[in-house]
Amino acid sequence: MTDPTSQANYTEIATEHVLFKWTIDFANQIIAGTATHDLRISKNDVGEVIFDTADLDIESVEVEGKSASYEVKPKHPIMGSALHINLPSGLKSGSLIKATIKYQTTKECTALQWLAKEQTQGKSFPYLFSQCQPIYARAMAPVQDSPSVKIKYSAEVTSVLPALMSAIRQSPPSDGPAHDGKVIGKDAVTYVYHQPIPIPSYLIAIAAGNVVYRSFPRHPGKEWTCGIWSEPELIEAAYWEFSEDTARFLASAEEIVVPYRFGVYDLLVLPPSFPYGGMENACLTFLTPTLLAGDRTLVDVIAHELTHSWFGNGVTHANASHFWLNEGWTTYIERLLLQVIHTPADRGFSFIIGYKGLQDDLEMYVDRPKYQRLVIDFEKGEDPDDAYSRVPYDKGANLILHLERTIGGLDVFLPYVRDYVSTFMGKSITTQEWKSHLYGYYEKHGGAGKIKALDSIDWDAWFYGEGLQLPVKMEYDSSLAESAYKLAERWDSSRAVEISKLSFHESDLDNFSSTQKVVFLERLQSYKPLPSSHVEHLASLYKVSSTHNAEIRLRFYQFSLADPSSPVALKYAAQAADWVIGGGTGMVVGRMKFCRDVFRAVYKVDKDLAVNAFQKEKNSFHPIARKLIEKDLKLPS
Ligand code: BES
Ligand code: ZN
Repeated sequence: MTDPTSQANYTEIATEHVLFKWTIDFANQIIAGTATHDLRISKNDVGEVIFDTADLDIESVEVEGKSASYEVKPKHPIMGSALHINLPSGLKSGSLIKATIKYQTTKECTALQWLAKEQTQGKSFPYLFSQCQPIYARAMAPVQDSPSVKIKYSAEVTSVLPALMSAIRQSPPSDGPAHDGKVIGKDAVTYVYHQPIPIPSYLIAIAAGNVVYRSFPRHPGKEWTCGIWSEPELIEAAYWEFSEDTARFLASAEEIVVPYRFGVYDLLVLPPSFPYGGMENACLTFLTPTLLAGDRTLVDVIAHELTHSWFGNGVTHANASHFWLNEGWTTYIERLLLQVIHTPADRGFSFIIGYKGLQDDLEMYVDRPKYQRLVIDFEKGEDPDDAYSRVPYDKGANLILHLERTIGGLDVFLPYVRDYVSTFMGKSITTQEWKSHLYGYYEKHGGAGKIKALDSIDWDAWFYGEGLQLPVKMEYDSSLAESAYKLAERWDSSRAVEISKLSFHESDLDNFSSTQKVVFLERLQSYKPLPSSHVEHLASLYKVSSTHNAEIRLRFYQFSLADPSSPVALKYAAQAADWVIGGGTGMVVGRMKFCRDVFRAVYKVDKDLAVNAFQKEKNSFHPIARKLIEKDLKLPS
C-alpha cells in the first residue's frame, strides 16, 4: 500500500527531520533557500531518494556535504515532478544520511499566496501565506509529500515582515516587541522555529505579514499556552471572538481524549482570500476572517481545528483514501465538545446542519459516485481535491455516532476513544487498521456481546456505499431546529397568499441564533422555490442579503437562486457574484465553502455572469481556489 498522490520512495528511505533555511523575497514573490533532510534508510543498498516537488527551481543538491547528481522528472499534472537524487552505494538499512537541496519557489507555486498590500486590512504591507493540505507542501519545498511520512522540522526564515510557522518559536519571542524591535517592512529579521513532534508534511505552514500577537489568559493548571495573531487592525475583534472559548475547548478536549502534546496552540486570522474556514497547522491554526462575526457564534470552527490536534495531527490518515479518519473523527469529537460545553441539543443541531451539507454534496457527486464513498479507491495521480466534500466529514461523523450508540453509549465508548488515540498517536493508519483495533479493543473489554454489536454494523455499506442515503436512518436531537422548521413551513404554506395579506414580521427572527437562521434558510430550500415576490419580501423583512454573517448570506443566496429562471434569481445572482469577488476592492471572499458554492449557484442562473465576475478577480483568489473554481465553471486552466 503506497500513497496514490505521491511519487516518493518513502517505504525505502524516509525523512525524519528537515531543516529549512529560507529567505522570503516579497519583491519577487519567491521563497529561496535550502531544505536539509535527515533520512533514515529502511532498505539495504537503496540507490536513490525520491522527493515530491512541484514547480520548484532546483539549483543544486548535496548528499553528506558532497555535490550529488539528481534528476527532476517531467511534471505530472497532479503529482508534480519527482526529484530523484542518487545516493552512494552500500547504504545499510537503519542508517541515516543527509541530503541538502538548494532551490527556490516559482510564480506557478500553488501552495503560496502572495498578497499585495491593497489586499490586506492595513493596506501598508504585503502578505504571504501557505496552504499545504492535501498535496501542496511539494510546491513549497522538496518533501516526501505523504501523510504516511511524519517529520520533525526546524526553520530559519529571514524576512522583512514578521514570519510565523507551524512550530514552536525559538526566537525572537512571540510576546516581545514586534519584528524584534526592528523596522517592519524594511529590516530583515531571522525567525527561528522548531517542531519537535513528527508531523505530516501537509501541516508545514508559513505566514508572513504585518501581524501582532496577543496571548489568551492561561488556563488554570495547564502547561500549554494559547493566543492569537492577526494584523493590528483586527486584533481586538479577533481576541474578543476567540479568547473566551479556545483554552476552554482545548481543556475539554483533553478530558475527552489525552493531554495536548504540542505545547502551544495559537490562532492566526488571515486575510479574506484564505481558502478554508480553518486549517489545523501544527501549533498554529489558520483561520478565515469571516469567523469574526462579532457574536462568537462561529467558534465551532475552533473546536473543530483544535480537535485535529489528536485526530489528524496526532493519529494521521495514511493517505487520501483514508482522509475520513481525520475529518470524520474530528467532526464527531467537535460535536461532542459542543455537547459538553453547551448542551446535547447543540450536538444534535450541528449534526442536522451537517446532514444538509452532506445531502447537497452527495447530490453533487451523482455522476461521480465513487466520491460518495467514505473510503475512496484513488487511482495513482488522481486529484484528492476533486473528492473534497462534506462526505468524509459527515458520513464519517455519522458512522462514529452510530458506533457510539450501537456499542452502548458514551460511557462505554469514550474509554475506547482514549485507547484508540493512545495506540496510534504519532502513527499514520488506514481504515482497516482502525477497524482491527476497534474489534481488538472490544474483544478485550466487553467480549461476545460487544463483538455482536459491532458485527451488526454494515461496514461495507458505510465504507463503500454510494448513493444519497446513509446506511442507517439517524435520529438527532432536533429541539434547536424546531422553531426554524416551523417558520420555514409557514413561509411554504403562504406561497399562494398575496404579499399585503402576509403576517410575517421582522421580529420573527428575534429569538433565533445565527445558526438557527441558517437552518431556517436551508429548510426553505427543501420546498419548491417560493415566488419572487415572497423571496423579496423575506429579504427585506429579515435583512439576510446584507448581513455580515457569511454563513447566513450564503444560505440566502442559495435560497434566492433556487429557481434559476425567476426574476429574483437574476437580481441576487448579480449581488452574490459581486459579494464573493469583493465588490471591486480586491478583498475577495476566498473561503471556498462560500465562493465555490456561490459561483456554482450563479453559474446555474447565468453562466456569463459567473464567468465574467470570476475573470475580473481571478488573480485575487488563492491558487487552489482559482484552480477549483475554474473546474466548477468549466473553464480551461
Ligand atoms: N483540514 C481541513 C481543511 C482542509 C481539508 C484543507 C482538506 C485542505 C484539504 C480543516 O480542518 C477543515 O475541515 N476546515 C473546515 C472547517 C470546519 C469543518 C469547521 C472548513 O474550512 O470549512
Ligand atoms: Zn477538519
